[in-house]
Amino acid sequence: ADVYGHGLKYERPPFTFQSNNWEALARDRMSQDSLGYVCGSASTGETDRKNRAAFQKWSLVPRRLVKTTSYPRLDTHLLGQNFPSPIAIAPVGVQRIFNPDGEIAAAKAAAREKVPYIYSTAAATSMEDVAKANGNGVRWYQLYWPSNEHNDLTASLLKRAKSNGFSALFVTLDTYKLGWRPSDLDNAYNPFLRSDSIGTALGFSDPVFRSHFKAKHGKEVEDDLHDAASEWAGLIFPGFSHGWEDIAFLRKHWDGPIVLKGIQSVQDAKMAAELGIEGIVVSNHGGRQQDGGPASLDCLVKIVEAVGKEIDILFDSGIRCGSDIAKAMAIGAKMVLIGRPYIYGLVLGGEEGVGHVLRSLLGDLTMNLHLAGIPSVSQEDLNKECLEYDG
Ligand code: FNR
Repeated sequence: ADVYGHGLKYERPPFTFQSNNWEALARDRMSQDSLGYVCGSASTGETDRKNRAAFQKWSLVPRRLVKTTSYPRLDTHLLGQNFPSPIAIAPVGVQRIFNPDGEIAAAKAAAREKVPYIYSTAAATSMEDVAKANGNGVRWYQLYWPSNEHNDLTASLLKRAKSNGFSALFVTLDTYKLGWRPSDLDNAYNPFLRSDSIGTALGFSDPVFRSHFKAKHGKEVEDDLHDAASEWAGLIFPGFSHGWEDIAFLRKHWDGPIVLKGIQSVQDAKMAAELGIEGIVVSNHGGRQQDGGPASLDCLVKIVEAVGKEIDILFDSGIRCGSDIAKAMAIGAKMVLIGRPYIYGLVLGGEEGVGHVLRSLLGDLTMNLHLAGIPSVSQEDLNKECLEYDG
């Protein structure tokens, strides 16, 4: 019997259903380097802690005798498409440091669970291989945006993404350089420069990158993976930000929805809406980039009020369980991205581990909504009236 409302049966799981324990379990299975990389955050971790604390300020208040005949519906509509559930796999770089199958395992699990997979520009596996593993799944391409001087490289990446079935473009705006992350600094660790983690890094298969590397270094990528990785990381984290006017270049080279990831201010959300951008991800990168900022959930409240009717709003940073997803959606997000939790699943059980994390979160979400008398995740049913604020 489907006792948990999301296809879950009483079967022994590959690891616990207690989402609170995934991080601790994964910590025991990782090297100090990978552990510092995934669990770490910027500076003192203030933003990271605020991200989590913000969820505790809201409560889902249950209603009774809401006559129901089925489990709540989790389907959602955004970017001109329907999705069976409101979660997606957040872009995370160099996934091979967490499991030898890295992106391949995660992209397979995502397809199996019908959850969109967002593929990172910092991936350790080529986009062609990931597209193959993801098969008929929905996949989106996340761009770390090279400087204008390298527009030919950006155009090449977008063209390849499109021809490999990546249907939306997520442009990450908060990471033109990696944040001040003491855990990585203490370990003298940069996963983008390690040959044991870079694998078939995305750039290595790009014709524009390959010829750029050859012209500059007088050798092929394969002759010196370390130099190639260093060159690639320098291009995708150029150190300086673009301006709003540069979006026109992406629009010209991308035939499909564009989503800006990393929005925290109402002003930027309004700019995006005015420019006709299809979506934004209200995100602070899980508190890994700038520290001392607001909780992403607090930003979501203000941004939904300002532009919720004009642009599709997605959310991430701090989602750890089903009720977190429900709260973000009640506030107005149409979808949430799952970050660290699925990486813990990847560490603990590869493809099966990622699948377990996604199913657990959806099962938890289903039962929370069901027992709160909320019949679906659509704004008609799940909205701020379901919440009480006690911050
Ligand atoms: C990330 N994130 C990220 N974002 C992005 O746009 N491109 C990337 O390559 C990465 N890489 C990355 C690596 C690791 C190890 C982590 C933990 C995160 C950020 C990610 O997409 C998402 O915004 C956050 O993870 C959300 O916060 P939580 O859910 O981890 O708290």
